[in-house]
Parts: sequence; structure tokens; C-alpha cells
Amino acid sequence: MKAIRVGFVGGGFIARFHLRSLVAVRDVCVAGVASPGGGAEFIELAAELGVAADGGVVAFGDAEELAASDAIDAIWICARNDTRVIVMKAIERGVQRRSNPLRGIAVEKPLARTMAEAEEVVRLATSIGAPTAYLEDMLFAPSLARGKEVAWRRGAGVAGRPYLARASEEHSGPHSKWFWQPELAGGGALIDMMCHSLEAARWLLTEPGAARSSLLPIAVSATTANLKWVHEPYASQLTERFGADLDWAAHPSEDFARATVTWRVAEGPDAGREVISETSSSWCYVGAGLRHEFQLLGPEYALDIDMARTGVEVFMSRNVVGEAGEDLVEKQNAEQGLMPISPNETAHYGYEAENRAALASFRAGRALKPDFAAGLEVTRLLMASYLSAREGRTVDPFEAAVSDLQPF
Ligand SMILES: NC(=O)c1ccc[n+]([C@@H]2O[C@H](COP(=O)([O-])OP(=O)(O)OC[C@H]3O[C@@H](n4cnc5c(N)ncnc54)[C@H](O)[C@@H]3O)[C@@H](O)[C@H]2O)c1
Repeated sequence: MKAIRVGFVGGGFIARFHLRSLVAVRDVCVAGVASPGGGAEFIELAAELGVAADGGVVAFGDAEELAASDAIDAIWICARNDTRVIVMKAIERGVQRRSNPLRGIAVEKPLARTMAEAEEVVRLATSIGAPTAYLEDMLFAPSLARGKEVAWRRGAGVAGRPYLARASEEHSGPHSKWFWQPELAGGGALIDMMCHSLEAARWLLTEPGAARSSLLPIAVSATTANLKWVHEPYASQLTERFGADLDWAAHPSEDFARATVTWRVAEGPDAGREVISETSSSWCYVGAGLRHEFQLLGPEYALDIDMARTGVEVFMSRNVVGEAGEDLVEKQNAEQGLMPISPNETAHYGYEAENRAALASFRAGRALKPDFAAGLEVTRLLMASYLSAREGRTVDPFEAAVSDLQPF
């Protein structure tokens, strides 16, 4: 089978995570990157991992040049949140200069910073005409995929559908400056991390094989807060780390968020029933790794997943003093004491299975589930959560104010 030649827009943290995952994916190679600064570290890593195309990874000047190249079959967008529309417009211009059709466009979460931007991204994808993938790795994490399959087949199959899903993703704060600049990120912990939890909880509550439309969100109640990083000494630590122009205390978004979504079952024998998802996101959690948990509860069963418990731990005494790093587990907060180790993070978090599925869809000329349209629905829930938190009321996710909201 001929390898699909992928080009990346953005060559930072998540692009490098994808590179590592591609070692375990067949019939794919990385042929290009468009990233301000040239993406030298990305290109070096691709070569080191053996996932670069035969001619190596070409550094393109921008997304338009990457999309115009017939040496690129599919594009993975892994750039900053504020660049989604700019990048999609560049791809739209670039594809007009191609001889072969682009086989697919995959985008990292979030799809965009507002509903207006997300709708524009979906419109541009339709104009480009390539199948899309909205990259939500949690839907492909082996523990969630297997757990959902067993809970639905054995539990729901005998006792009835699940009625409550809980999902939390909490860590000690992001690595790059732009995440802390609300106008670039589009918000704080809510937009950064609740996109994962909302979509994973919805997916756990959805019957295997049923359409996305089988669950309709009808009410959203959310809270946002600044629990840690607006206070000293932490606000000053951010300024020291990222520069004097970053003043989170004066211009914060949020470092904590929670949301409850009520869903109506729209089809099948349970049509009309209501089920609930409870989610929380935080940049204030300090523990050995992340707090990253999922639950799916039904009338006679419970599924529990703790992504931070990998079954491998090391203990380092106080006499083992080493450099700070993230070599044991993502977002590790210490190098001493009892620490979890993730033996294979790209598999554990779902990147391998996600990229395998996205490439198989593109090869078949189809969009991945979830696609950009699904990303738009996740954006709707994020905006409804911001609106609910801002106005202190339960929000209908389809009300006009959700579409108009600019949370930053
Ligand atoms: N799925 C996940 O769990 C996950 C995890 C981390 C990040 N992300 C998402 O991935 C995206 C990138 O985040 P990151 O952690 O890699 O950030 P990062 O700061 O490590 O890297 C951002 C990259 O974007 C590039 N960039 C900025 N403007 C650009 C432009 N106009 N065109 C092309 N490239 C541009 C930068 O040069 C850099 O390489 C974000 O949207 C983020 O939300 C997803």
C-alpha cells in the first residue's frame, strides 16, 4: 500500500506527540512541516524516529505552500488556537495550485475560539472539499474504547443504558505562553481542556454504533473560577517564566471550570429520557501527574478509568536529586517520592489509534468520526459553558447568545 504523506502545520508539543505515535501506524510518512521558525526540532525528531518521507521532511514557508505541494497528501493542523481560520484560508488558496486532490485535513482541538470561527472553519473545509478529522484522542484511548465496549455490551445490554458520565482533566498549567493569553487561546482551562471531557463524556453516553444526533444537549450549567494563578506568588511566577507582557493577574481567563450538561435521548427505546454529563478542568491541580478520570454509571454497573494510574510507579528517596522534567509522565510535578510512569504515552492517550483511524478514513475517502462538524458541536458546548458561567444561569446550547459569544 502506498504511504500517505502527511504535512504538519505547527511543529510544537502536540505535533511532536503525533510524530511519536506514527511509529506505530502503517503506510504513513511525514513529508512536510509549516511552522514559524522552520520546525527544526520537529524535522530532527521525524528523522530520528524513522517516520520521515524518503526525501526527508521539507520545511515549507507557510500553510499555503504546504497545501499547494503535490508531495503532501493530507494535512494535520497543530498550530496555536488563534490561527485556525488563517490556516484554513491558506490551505484553501494552496489546494487550488495542486494537481492531485488533498486526501484529508485533521485539526487538533479546539476547532476554534468561538462559534463564528468554528462555523467559518467548517465552511472552508466544505469549500476545500477534503474529508476532515477533529482530533479528540480520548475517544481512541484503549482504556476508554475497551471500557465503553464492555459497559454497553454487558451492563447496558442487560440492565439498561447508562445515565451519568463523569470526566475530569486537571493539571498544573500549560507549557507555552500563548495558552495564558486569553485572546490567543480563546480562554483558559475551559476551552483548553473541557473540549476533551465534554466530548469523551458524550461519547461514553452514546450507544455504540448510534449517530451523534442520538443524544441532544438541552441544558448547560457551568462555573469558571480563578483559584490559583491570579494570586501571589503564582501570578509573578508566570510573568517571570513568560515575560513582562504576560500579566495573568490583570488579564486572566480561568484556571478552573466545571460543567453539567443535560442530554435528551433522541432515538431508540429510551427516546425522551434525560442523561447527564459532569466535567471539570483545571490548571491548578498539583499531584504526581495529571488528575485524569472517567466514569460511566448505569442502573447496575459502573465503569471507572484513572488515566494517571498506569500500573507502573517508581519511588525516589529525598537523596535522589535530579533535573525537573516530564520524562516519567506528562505534566509531572516532582522527581522524588512515589511517581507514576506511563510506559507508552502515545498509545495510552489514544494518539496511535486516533491517527490509524483518521488515515484509514482518509484512505477510504471518508471523514473520521468525529469530523469538523462534530468539533463545531463541541465548540457550542464550550461557548454555552462560558455563557452559563458568565450569566450565572442554565443555558440552552442552541440559544442565539451562544453563537454570538466571544469569551475573551
Ligand atoms: N490533544 C491534546 O491533548 C492536545 C495537547 C496539547 C495541545 N493541543 C492543541 O494543539 C495545538 C498546538 O498546541 P501545542 O501544545 O503544540 O503548542 P506549542 O506552543 O507547543 O506549539 C504551537 C505551534 O504552533 C506554531 N504556530 C503558531 N502560529 C502558527 C501559524 N500561523 N502557522 C503555523 N504554525 C504556527 C508554533 O510555531 C508552534 O510550533 C493547540 O491548538 C492545542 O490546543 C492538543
